[in-house]
Amino acid sequence: MMVPVLLALCIALTDALTAFPPKFLVGNRDQDVVVKCNTSRQEVTWTQNGEPEPMAELVTEGQTLTIRGLDQPATGNYSCWAGGVLLDSTYVVVGDSGEKGRNASCQADSYRGSFRCSWIGSHSTVFRARLTHSDGSVGDWVPAARHGRRFSANFTDPSFCPFAEELRPLQLHFEGISYTSFYNFSIYFFVRDIVRPDPPQELTAHLREGQLHLAWAPPASWPLPKSYFALLYWLQYELPNGTQVDTFVEGTEKMSLQERVRRVRISCQDPYTYTNTSWSPWSRWREVDTARPWRG
Ligand SMILES: *[C@@H]1O[C@H](CO)[C@@H](O)[C@H](O)[C@H]1NC(C)=O
Ligand SMILES: *[C@@H]1O[C@H](CO)[C@@H](O)[C@H](O)[C@H]1NC(C)=O
Ligand SMILES: *[C@@H]1O[C@H](CO)[C@@H](O)[C@H](O)[C@H]1NC(C)=O
Ligand SMILES: *[C@@H]1O[C@H](CO)[C@@H](O)[C@H](O)[C@H]1NC(C)=O
Ligand SMILES: *[C@@H]1O[C@H](CO)[C@@H](O)[C@H](O)[C@H]1NC(C)=O
Ligand SMILES: *[C@@H]1O[C@H](CO)[C@@H](O)[C@H](O)[C@H]1NC(C)=O
Ligand SMILES: *[C@@H]1O[C@H](CO)[C@@H](O)[C@H](O)[C@H]1NC(C)=O
Repeated sequence: MMVPVLLALCIALTDALTAFPPKFLVGNRDQDVVVKCNTSRQEVTWTQNGEPEPMAELVTEGQTLTIRGLDQPATGNYSCWAGGVLLDSTYVVVGDSGEKGRNASCQADSYRGSFRCSWIGSHSTVFRARLTHSDGSVGDWVPAARHGRRFSANFTDPSFCPFAEELRPLQLHFEGISYTSFYNFSIYFFVRDIVRPDPPQELTAHLREGQLHLAWAPPASWPLPKSYFALLYWLQYELPNGTQVDTFVEGTEKMSLQERVRRVRISCQDPYTYTNTSWSPWSRWREVDTARPWRG
């Protein structure tokens, strides 16, 4: 009895999906599924995953094949043929409402309406997702890239207006398909809640007249004008004895320090988002030339 089981497993494993099948049907477990062959021919023959032997629970009639009581062995690639000519293929899977959410989250580096999302899934599943834009139109399916058990994809809402208040959340709808199962789920979010800026750039530190003059620029990806897209800056500097000091400034891109400083770095945040994850990554530490004389 072991041999047929192993053989079936091997066939399933070599049939690994690498992309969404162009045509698929989602059935409910233990319910009938009707697969139609898209052809004008009156009679066709069927294969399941390349196997010509119809299983007991399959009933064929004309251009249709009925799976009686869908279960996992009955899932897979159904193809209809006329002699040796392939007419049509449909991938049949079981709908799985068990897994939800899958820790999907998204992050944007600014208010341009582009963002990156990632989520968790099984390694034998292929995923795609599409965005319902702020004007209500539905975007194209975007295939997900896989990194181990983590999947990710980038999205853009071309109708997103950075100057308007978001009244409705964006909807992102996910679909996943494996050898046997189909998953779907949606998440809803506002861009303003997922913005995490890139680090500020061009941090400079100059000693002049006994003071340390710091200057920087907003991240290149941050939108203009500055008066509208404000940034809150977090400066962190290290004293010669190793103590770290934190300072927050808003509405400026420079400041002066009286103290002797060994090195300094900077991060930023949209002042209108208050989540802990919305601080940008830190800039690199900028070493201060402590060989030069300080006043006092
Ligand atoms: C299903 O089988 C047909 C015939 O062998 C093949 O052309 C097609 O690529 C298969 N589809 C998938 C999604 O594997
Ligand atoms: C059936 O086949 C025709 C011709 O190839 C195609 O235009 C049509 O979209 C197909 N319909 C389905 C449901 O696959
Ligand atoms: C989802 O996140 C929660 C909390 O961060 C964690 O406990 C859980 O294991 C995660 N689920 C998966 C499938 O990784
Ligand atoms: C998605 O965007 C990130 C940066 O936000 C980039 O590093 C990555 O290459 C992009 N991936 C794709 C598939 O475009
Ligand atoms: C995806 O899920 C929704 C709601 O859970 C359901 O109404 C819809 O039919 C599903 N889509 C497919 C293709 O199964
Ligand atoms: C480090 O130096 C600062 C300023 O000179 C001082 O206020 C602080 O107490 C010192 N910390 C330690 C741990 O020595
Ligand atoms: C958020 O940040 C505050 C202050 O830094 C900290 O006290 C709090 O534990 C953080 N919360 C989470 C969930 O990380």
